[in-house]
Amino acid sequence: MSTLEISKMTSSIGAEVFGVDLSKPLDETAFAEIRSALLAHLVLVFRAQFLDPDQHVAFARQFGEMHYSAVPTAHGGPPEINVLDMVKPKGNGSDRWHSDSPFLVEPTDATFLNAVMMPSTGGDTCFANMYDAYENLSEPMKRYVDGLYAVQDVSTTLYLAVEKGNSDFDVAEMQRRLPPVEHPVVRTHPETGRKVLYVDAASTSRIVGVARKESEAILDHLFTQAHNVSVQCRVRWHAGDLVFYDNRCTQHIAVPDYDERRIMHLVSIKGSRPV
Ligand code: SIN
Repeated sequence: MSTLEISKMTSSIGAEVFGVDLSKPLDETAFAEIRSALLAHLVLVFRAQFLDPDQHVAFARQFGEMHYSAVPTAHGGPPEINVLDMVKPKGNGSDRWHSDSPFLVEPTDATFLNAVMMPSTGGDTCFANMYDAYENLSEPMKRYVDGLYAVQDVSTTLYLAVEKGNSDFDVAEMQRRLPPVEHPVVRTHPETGRKVLYVDAASTSRIVGVARKESEAILDHLFTQAHNVSVQCRVRWHAGDLVFYDNRCTQHIAVPDYDERRIMHLVSIKGSRPV
């Protein structure tokens, strides 16, 4: 019998989930309910879980094979965890609308974000429902973009961070390790079968097979679909909260409006090539 209580955050996206302790292995019912809640709501917020790094990884591992970042951060904890530790947002990619790792041949399926330390004000994360973003396009625009491919390039954001002096990444070396890939502009979610708008300003550099100016104009229009507040929810964090989001059909932005230390731990599970 279910003990989970699920409370929707908006009609488009997001739900808070109560009545489960994520530090312990999930029983079959709770696991199935969380999986189906993820497919229904795309972003699940679990309040006051206070998972330590091993518990964080153990919770994520129940949902798939672990992903190891191509751009790992140095820290003393488990290698599955990437750490975002900032006092001021630095234009490192998290503070632009994006999905995680679209520049990989097989981008990650889902991410588990654990709030370790939060500023006293600001530092929320907003999420966008990219099914709804696609549905909001006009029918002629849907016909135009269905079947197109776009280049996803890790250097798109890294260049910005390096230019601003916020990163010392060797962008050329990073591009050698992670050459640009082509993915559909509109992907189909492998579990729901629904269409998802799959381009973002942090990684998508151009649409394949169209003139540069045309690609820029179309991408500009597509990028702004995530900015529509009616497809969004906003997570106001407290330290100890954990968010589990479906990276195949969402984008998110870490709102750059804080000036105290903010520490997030991220764990992701592997995905498959978008189709
Ligand atoms: C991310 O962009 O992957 C992390 C989001 C956040 O720090 O809120």
